[in-house]
Amino acid sequence: MSARLLRCAVVYSIVGISMGIAMAGSHDFTNKGVHVHANLVGWVSMAVMALAYRAFPALAASRLASVHFWLHNLGLPVMLVGLYALLHAIAWGEPVVAAGSIIVALAFLCFAINVFRHAHD
Ligand code: HEM
Ligand code: HEM
Repeated sequence: MSARLLRCAVVYSIVGISMGIAMAGSHDFTNKGVHVHANLVGWVSMAVMALAYRAFPALAASRLASVHFWLHNLGLPVMLVGLYALLHAIAWGEPVVAAGSIIVALAFLCFAINVFRHAHD
């Protein structure tokens, strides 16, 4: 679980950083929100969670870990594509970003419940 999530995290770091370089080069910051959330909800959050799964094996062993993994990895691409569309004034952007965000929020909720239930010293 930890290694799988860390692999997903580094994929988002490449996506996020590539967008950052593209924005810096073009001086067009329309996609800033996508860059921010790819880096922070993708790379940073997933990497922190991957390390938590490694530090607390009981977290990784829980069913909540795989529910979190799938909600995070299904919801985030939907959220980012929807946000991209929203920032480019495409009509379907708003409902799609809303749906993706709710899925991502549920993923974080699963992770939080798992931490309170299973992260013991
Ligand atoms: C080579 C890597 C990166 C480049 C070239 C880059 C480039 C940029 C650019 C051009 C902006 C817009 C700045 C503006 O609106 O004036 C930005 C904003 C931002 N970036 Fe990056 N970025 C990089 C990596 C990262 C990483 C790794 C993170 C997070 C872990 C990050 C987080 C942010 C945040 C939070 C903002 C919004 C800042 C604000 O609105 O004040 N960036 N970045
Ligand atoms: C479902 C999860 C999330 C939703 C729905 C969400 C939503 C939003 C919204 C609506 C904004 C304001 C955008 C704007 O006005 O341009 C924003 C900005 C921001 N969010 Fe999130 N966010 C989420 C998760 C996160 C997480 C987990 C982090 C950090 C780990 C984060 C970091 C930021 C930052 C740094 C900004 C400011 C970006 C800027 O300066 O342009 N967000 N977010």
